[in-house]
This record gives sequence, structure tokens and C-alpha cells, in this order.
Amino acid sequence: MLGSGGREHALAWKLAQSSCLANGGKLFCAPGNPGVAQAAELVNLDATDHAAVIAFCDTQTIGLVVVGPEAPLVDGLGDALRAEGIPVFGPNKAAAQLEGSKGFTKDLCQRANIPTAGYVRVNSRDAAHAALAQFGAPVVIKADGLAAGKGVTVAMTMAEATAAVDDIFAGRFGEAGAEAVIEEFMTGEEASFFALTDGATILAFASAQDHKRVGEGDTGPNTGGMGAYSPAPVLTPELEAEVMTRIIAPTVKTMADEGMPYSGVLFAGLMLTDAGPKLIEYNCRFGDPECQVMLSRMTSDLGELLLACAEDRLATCAAPRFAPDTALTVVMAASGYPDTPRKGGTITGIAAAEAAGAKVFHAGTALAGDNLVASGGRVLNVTARGATVTEAQSRAYAAVDAIIAPDLFCRRDIGYREVAREAAEG
Ligand code: AMP
Ligand code: GLY
Repeated sequence: MLGSGGREHALAWKLAQSSCLANGGKLFCAPGNPGVAQAAELVNLDATDHAAVIAFCDTQTIGLVVVGPEAPLVDGLGDALRAEGIPVFGPNKAAAQLEGSKGFTKDLCQRANIPTAGYVRVNSRDAAHAALAQFGAPVVIKADGLAAGKGVTVAMTMAEATAAVDDIFAGRFGEAGAEAVIEEFMTGEEASFFALTDGATILAFASAQDHKRVGEGDTGPNTGGMGAYSPAPVLTPELEAEVMTRIIAPTVKTMADEGMPYSGVLFAGLMLTDAGPKLIEYNCRFGDPECQVMLSRMTSDLGELLLACAEDRLATCAAPRFAPDTALTVVMAASGYPDTPRKGGTITGIAAAEAAGAKVFHAGTALAGDNLVASGGRVLNVTARGATVTEAQSRAYAAVDAIIAPDLFCRRDIGYREVAREAAEG
């Protein structure tokens, strides 16, 4: 496995339980983190050095490579491994454009008649200004390429919109901002839906909702996600079926028909509008921290499913199964995150948090001698389960309170929409 965040700790924890590792199989992770090290042997490998990854796979006779983050996929690591006959979970470069280029995905939606916001692709400041005049505010401006989650501006005024466009075409995002998408502002509640596919067969995975803003009540700057829960009750079985038929299935079919079969997990960011679910964006990987909550509930063998995707035989697998309860995770982040996270703060109390019934996934942690310290923006994912969101939330915060980490902070309201709904329903 490649990656080093909380998502990879959850993947390693679940993969370590797979029957694929029976009979002396072994899980390696590069670069991993101290949490991943509890489930896998850490190795020093640079995912951008495709030759080095291939050489390691050959030496260790690796039977499956699981790519956690998007960058190596968008960079073509999947193609390089497949060319050597090494099974890989994750799409090839052409298919990873679904995350790597917002304009590519919007055009695909148009060709396949997939519900999404109206849009215009622009490749100059002047064209962008003309498009803004056409849409008016509120409007959404997106740098085309990967921008570490910072490339999207939801502009409520024309002044904000103009500033966002000028920023992009002044080179703020480098190559990722050589092009942009201007799109219609949609309203509704957001939810995420995940499906596994080998390019032909599709199996629904699970739903989740995350909290992207750093502050309570969904205020302040966007982050990678401050907490999440799964399932997302707003995504009813009827809506899930609609998402599968109108969004996921036509995407997979069109990609295959056009010679870019998509293999891996398809992560759909959705807006539940009055006119039905619409696609906001695709990611070509599991969500972080959505992965942590989905895998906490998963009862199927993850390794077998990922290997079946990699080997184009998903049709032989049963649909993934999940416990019917809720899992909720609270992200503990370094003070100053997302702008200037303060690294180095010590962390104790994880054993006490786990004794309280939670599972603590490591994201940005490192060992300094014998001490566990913060080494990144998002540091821990404190994850608990319960019969309701309310119960999972109270267990997760009880575990958070057992962790002693003065330099970390968390939102205290993860899951608030569902907790309010549950209270209203009594
Ligand atoms: P993205 O990186 O594309 O997921 O966008 C980041 C966030 O911007 C999303 O989670 C939404 O909250 C918001 N967003 C993106 N596109 C739209 C849109 N067309 N209308 C309203 N909000 C949007
Ligand atoms: N939590 C959102 C993401 O992984 O993109």
C-alpha cells in the first residue's frame, strides 16, 4: 500500500485482516505512519519513482498494490505497474482524469447526460470574465487540475468571483490553474457515495458525509475534512439507486466505451438538490476521513474485493457488506491547521481512548524518540460506533477527551445535522 494518512491507517488495519494475507502473505506500506506500522511493515519508497516501486514489487513478489492517495494515480503509477503485470487497485492515468481534471469530468457528464451543475471551461482570464458575466453571482470557480483541495471558490459576490478568477490566471495553482471551470451554484445538502468497479462490474460500497470547514457550524476555511460519519441517512436507498443508475453507471460505461476503463473506487461528491442528486465532483480514491468510518463498519473481506477490482473479476464477488450501525470520526488537527499547522506537539492517551471503545487512526503522527508527536495538519481520527449518530458521536468525544494533546484541536459538532434530526424524530 502507498500513502501515509488516516485513510491508509484504516486501509492497512482492514487489509491486515484479509484472507489474502493467509498462508504467509505480508502487507508493506510506503511510507506509512506509526499507526500504519501496527498493521504493516513500513518501507521507504518514493511513489513518484515508478521504477523503484516496480523493483520493490518484483523483489517481494507483491500480489497487489493499493494506492491510497490520488497524486500517484493521476501521475500514471497505475499504468507503470500494469505494464509490468503487477495488479493495482486504482485507475490508470487516463481514467484518473476524473479527479485530475474538473473540465474532463464536466465534459464527460455532458456526453453521458449525467446530472451536474451547468458550466463553461475557460483557459484565459478574459474568457473567464465573460463566463462570470453570463452566470452572475453566486457562482463557483474551479482550477482545472489537482490543487490539494484549495482550487475551488464558491463566490457569493461578483467581487469574490473576479478575485478567484484573477488568482487562478495569475498562476496561484501553477499548471493546475492553466484552465478553469466556471459553474452554476447548486444548493442542497452534500453527501458522498462510493462504488467499486473493475471497469465493467460495479458494486455499491457505502455512503458518508464529512465536514469540510475548519470551524463549528461549518464556518471558516475549507480543509481536507474535520470529521465524518457513515452511512449518510440523507442518502436513502431510493436516492442511492438513482445515483447508481443516473451517475455512477453511465460514468463507468462511458469511460469503458471511450477506451479509458475506470478501475478502483469511484468517490462521488453529490449535491442533493430539489431536482434530485447531482454530481459535484469525482475522486479516484477513498475519501479521508470517509474511508475510516466506512471501513469501521465493513464486515466483508476488503483485500479480496480490491484484488478482484485489480484482476477484472469483480463480477465473481458478493456485494460488500456493512454493519447496520453508524461510525463517526472526529479529526484532531494541529493548532493553526489548515493554514499553518504547528508540528511537534506530544500526544498521549491513545490507549485510554481505545479502552473507552474507540479506534484511533493515525494521520499526521511521527515518533520522536519514544514520544508520539504531531507531524502534519490532520493528526488523529478518533472513531467510534453506535446504534445512532448521537450515540456514536458521544462515544467518539468521550474518547477524544481521553487523549492528552495540548497542541491539537477538534470540532465539537461532528454529525450535528443528523444528531438534530434524531432529536427531532425522538
Ligand atoms: P470540490 O473540490 O469540487 O468538491 O468542491 C469543494 C466544495 O465546494 C464542495 O464540497 C461544495 O461544498 C462546494 N461546491 C463545489 N461545486 C459547487 C457547486 N456547483 N455549487 C455549490 N457548491 C459547490
Ligand atoms: N474528505 C474529502 C476528501 O477526501 O476528498
